[in-house]
Amino acid sequence: MSDLYLKLVNTPVGKTAAQSLGLPSPIPLKRLKRVDQPFIEGNILIAAGSGAKAVPTLGAILGASPANLFHATGSDTLEESSKAGNKARSFDLSREADSQFSALVFDATGLKNPQELRALYDFFHPTIRKLATNGRILVIGQDPHSCRKASHAAAQQALEGFVRAMGKEIGKKGSTANLIWIAPNAENQLDSSVRFFLSPRSAYISGQTVRIGKAESAKATNPVAPLTGKVALVTGASRGIGASIAETLARDGATVIGLDIPSAMEELQKVTGALKGKALACDITDKNAPKLIADFIEKESGGVDLVVHNAGITRDKTLGNMPEHFWDMTIAVNLTAEELIDEELMHRNLLKDNGRIVCISSISGIAGNFGQTNYSCAKSGVIGYVEAMAKQLKNGITINAIAPGFIETQMTAAMPFTIREAGRRMNSLSQGGLPIDVAEAIAWYCNPASAGVTGNVVRVCGQSLIGK
Ligand code: NAI
Repeated sequence: MSDLYLKLVNTPVGKTAAQSLGLPSPIPLKRLKRVDQPFIEGNILIAAGSGAKAVPTLGAILGASPANLFHATGSDTLEESSKAGNKARSFDLSREADSQFSALVFDATGLKNPQELRALYDFFHPTIRKLATNGRILVIGQDPHSCRKASHAAAQQALEGFVRAMGKEIGKKGSTANLIWIAPNAENQLDSSVRFFLSPRSAYISGQTVRIGKAESAKATNPVAPLTGKVALVTGASRGIGASIAETLARDGATVIGLDIPSAMEELQKVTGALKGKALACDITDKNAPKLIADFIEKESGGVDLVVHNAGITRDKTLGNMPEHFWDMTIAVNLTAEELIDEELMHRNLLKDNGRIVCISSISGIAGNFGQTNYSCAKSGVIGYVEAMAKQLKNGITINAIAPGFIETQMTAAMPFTIREAGRRMNSLSQGGLPIDVAEAIAWYCNPASAGVTGNVVRVCGQSLIGK
């Protein structure tokens, strides 16, 4: 469904009216136009606090883009910024006033105590107003769970509040701020995540933290088709977010097996037919579903690399009024089926080494939602499942979740007007996301170079004001 307010407010008359009435003025987000588009263009400014460990890696990743790379000078706390390498020219924070940056990148991995947080102020205070519309802020820190000293953990945890607050300040310009926490010595796992968070692919993701652990050295991938040779199973693929996931994984080179309920076969075949994929009619709550899916995968492709549990339903009622089949169905589709399907695939060795499992949670699973005790319960369970499984999986298999906020689909189009408008505007970017925003995040998780990204729950919600 199109967002008429977003269109109106970006006309000259609409902009003036919105400003004088104090209404939100969302900026249209820049999304990917072509798959071979560079992940970032324009000017990038990089800085590093004392003891920074990731800055040479960041310099190499950013130096490979066509953007002009600069490193910050002019502050005692930022002296290590020059380790970004010789592709980065120096930029004196105190002097050059009218430059604009498409991204501000800060390596905070070396900050050891709260006093050293001053480096954040020294870098972002003079530069945040120089961030262009649709700009990107990315901070890299060390995972606080890996810090033994309390003051060290405090400094690294502090980055989360700082980044989330910046996201709220820059959202009105269509810009985003995110934080990546890496495990010690996991700098070599940064590539796919840095590219993703600086690119238009992450347009609707802000205020998020991602943990990256150590993994086998990330394999170089074809940036235009990183999923070449992979087979993907996408449940609920006939429409909405699932159809977009199927299209995006196919765009990136995967062969897609789309699954949906038998009554959605006509729509599903349209989606998979256009992608030269395969369609599987299956109700995932059926007791034979895991076997049916595993048999199909075994016969058609001998195994699967990417499993995306997207199928979901809502059956809303306040708890006192909720019939038991509303409860049972919602838990079965959104939670139980995922576990049973994974179990069968792994039991039969059909999930290949270096495979990827992606589950769809929801903001409702994080914050809870009125009239959705069943759905919030299931989507919260998805988070527990992902976090526990991440510790158990072997052979390079990762598992992560996406928690979408307000995404423009048939589901949200059916909402009453006032609830729909509130859902759209109550986030830092003051607009709803699109199915492609969820799909792009899933493609990033599925990238072979994202081997160190596991156990994460990333919200695709424009930094919704709801939830933590
Ligand atoms: P949708 O209702 O448009 O699509 C869901 C798909 O799942 C449909 O094709 C449906 O036929 C399929 N499905 C439902 N029950 C099934 C079953 N028993 N077996 C097989 N397939 C089944 O929903 P939408 O909006 O595309 O949502 C996709 C996922 O994202 C869901 O898990 C949903 O809970 C989640 N989500 C969506 C949000 C939004 O704003 N649209 C917000 C938060 C989460």
